[in-house]
Amino acid sequence: MSYPIKGKTALVTGANRGIGEAIVDALIKAGASKVYAAARNTKDLAPLTARHGSRVVALQLDVTQPAQIAAAAQAAPDVQLLVNNAGYAGHSGGAFTDAQWLAEGRKEMEVNYFGVFALSQAFAPILGKNGGGAIVNIASVASLVSFALFASYSASKAAVHSLTQATRALLKGQGTQVFGVYPGPIDTRMAADVPFEKTSPAAAAQAIVAGIEAGQEEIFPDPMSVNMGAAWLAGPKELERQVSTMAG
Ligand SMILES: NC(=O)c1ccc[n+]([C@@H]2O[C@H](COP(=O)([O-])OP(=O)(O)OC[C@H]3O[C@@H](n4cnc5c(N)ncnc54)[C@H](OP(=O)(O)O)[C@@H]3O)[C@@H](O)[C@H]2O)c1
Repeated sequence: MSYPIKGKTALVTGANRGIGEAIVDALIKAGASKVYAAARNTKDLAPLTARHGSRVVALQLDVTQPAQIAAAAQAAPDVQLLVNNAGYAGHSGGAFTDAQWLAEGRKEMEVNYFGVFALSQAFAPILGKNGGGAIVNIASVASLVSFALFASYSASKAAVHSLTQATRALLKGQGTQVFGVYPGPIDTRMAADVPFEKTSPAAAAQAIVAGIEAGQEEIFPDPMSVNMGAAWLAGPKELERQVSTMAG
């Protein structure tokens, strides 16, 4: 079902840079009346508030801090569209037995999975009260197939994919639409060392907003993700074979 952005009030986590900042720009361009831009450090939001004036409201939010999540829900009772964008990528590469996989993997789960779960729980009643609304989870192509070089990050993003499906089923009754976004490499700080061709955050954000408006439950916002999404639908085992060769 299509979800028009015009006139809506949104909240975007991790809005101070990268894909999150670009999503705020794209939502405003699509006619959102207000966007709460949430970040750990609200000073980092100055460029967004300078660009968009009072249509962007800065909000302090670390998605791993329950008290800050509760305060955000209190401060933003008019939210109709929640974009769970904040994300963390820790250790990559090295040996399978490297201890950092576990230490960094726990942090990745905290932000990428439990953060999304906690935000969705806190805002589900608000979305329900405001007519149903929508939740958009920024997952990854690594949600659909593991990139072994990013083993623990991939697992956290697979967890987000599973949670996206559960949220869709559990909130259907209150009319909340749930979108999963599965980007490939996007040119942000997180992907600085990723050795693939990258899509700009602005282009990815525009495709994400277009996907929401078109009502696509799975959104593939860049050329690599379009190809991998098609390969995943055609045969997940063959996709695993292809991607696993990258680990060597
Ligand atoms: N770039 C890619 O190739 C790519 C591909 C697929 C999916 N993604 C996903 O897209 C999303 C955005 O990533 P990006 O590429 O824009 O990366 P980025 O530039 O590194 O931005 C990450 C954002 O998440 C925020 N963040 C991290 N931990 C947080 C926490 N505990 N609470 C609140 N905010 C937190 C960061 O805030 P600080 O500035 O305070 O650290 C920053 O705003 C992530 O979910 C990522 O996994 C990215």
